[in-house]
Amino acid sequence: MFLSDCLGANEKNHLTIGGIDTLELAAEYGTPLYVLDEDAIRRHCRMYTESVARFYDGNGLILYASKALCTKALCKIAEDEGMGLDVVSGGELYTAHKAGFPMERVYFHGNNKTPEELELALKLRVGQIVVDNRDELILINDLWGKANQKADILFRIKPGIDAHTHDFIMTGQIDSKFGVALETGEAMEIIREAVSLPHVKVVGIHCHIGSQIFDLEPFCKAAEVMVDFMGDVKDTLSLTLTQLNLGGGFGIRYTDEDDPIPYDRYMEAVSMVVKSTAERRGLPLPYILMEPGRSIVASAGLTLYTVGNVKEIPGIRSYLSVDGGMSDNPRYILYQAKYDFLIANRCQDAKTEVYTIAGKCCESGDLLGEHVPLQSARRGDTLAVLATGAYNYSMSSRYNCIPRPAVVMVSGGKSRVIVKRETYEDILQNDCL
Ligand code: LLP
Repeated sequence: MFLSDCLGANEKNHLTIGGIDTLELAAEYGTPLYVLDEDAIRRHCRMYTESVARFYDGNGLILYASKALCTKALCKIAEDEGMGLDVVSGGELYTAHKAGFPMERVYFHGNNKTPEELELALKLRVGQIVVDNRDELILINDLWGKANQKADILFRIKPGIDAHTHDFIMTGQIDSKFGVALETGEAMEIIREAVSLPHVKVVGIHCHIGSQIFDLEPFCKAAEVMVDFMGDVKDTLSLTLTQLNLGGGFGIRYTDEDDPIPYDRYMEAVSMVVKSTAERRGLPLPYILMEPGRSIVASAGLTLYTVGNVKEIPGIRSYLSVDGGMSDNPRYILYQAKYDFLIANRCQDAKTEVYTIAGKCCESGDLLGEHVPLQSARRGDTLAVLATGAYNYSMSSRYNCIPRPAVVMVSGGKSRVIVKRETYEDILQNDCL
């Protein structure tokens, strides 16, 4: 009945998450409030980690793409679940470090890592750097050289795959700011150069073909292209690459229109392609990495808001305004992202109305959804926006000096704050006259 299996309804007709009444959470912690179900997050992690054991003899590692939601608690869960971590900035790296995450399981991505970020990676002994371009390769060789060390590196490759997704989040194609191209020979040349450098060791290649993808086919195609390229590298440079990182991007259900594939099917499908292509090219089986972000956390989360004014513009539309908006969820204005909305205090009632959900920011475009079917709503109701666990808190801002909401984790019938609500003083913390 509900979008995600961690949601339910209790005898008061209130929405529950992880068995806890969302109205109680809103009363205890205030709104807007991000809520996550830890048990659901761990279930998603296990679907991936168990699939590596089942379909690929455990010869791989699932990395949690921390950009989806980067907090110390999430890093800790990824560690507990035996996963690695994909970080993409000094800030994510620092969060992982402060959470005590084992650095040898960290992969540092990014298309424009600064020298300071790379120095931090060197200092913290990050396990692998995913190199984006030649400048970065030279910089890494210099920095690691000064420290008399050798960096394990992978190269970000553009495999040229059309992943049938939103243009903004399609990254595997040639016109992308990420990585080096296969078909122009750029990828082979950069690996040739890297092999000659004393302070890097090329261990593998990486690709990420996009996000919120529902088909298996582009992943299988990418896997084939990448393993074929590993074959070319071996034939041309006599170098056997050992790691194949196929990125993330596995689609989730935001609304009933979405029909996601069970997450373990990705490893099942991809491992078959990797095995057959490796055999065809006479390569040993590579160590596989995958980097799910959204599919680990999105459907395990929701956001609670308090409904303020409901403004009916006769013959046009009804605006329902909430106490948050684009500052805590910019995905509608960025991608016209669709969500499922519920009045949490009457969650099983029929959705008889249609609203445009507006935020409180001083900007007409500050909407969370348009033409949204919803239960009839009034001031003081609690609005739940479902599947907001990924790319909401992590993409939030303080626009209009609106403090960021708290993040609460529920597990085993209990709740705890994992990120405190910001105060006005927090907003001014670094502000000097
Ligand atoms: N690995 C790499 C190298 C990536 O660039 C990404 C996402 C992932 C893994 C994780 O992808 P996921 O499994 O979460 O789809 N802000 C956008 C999504 C941008 C994704 C960027 N890269 C959104 O809100 O939809």
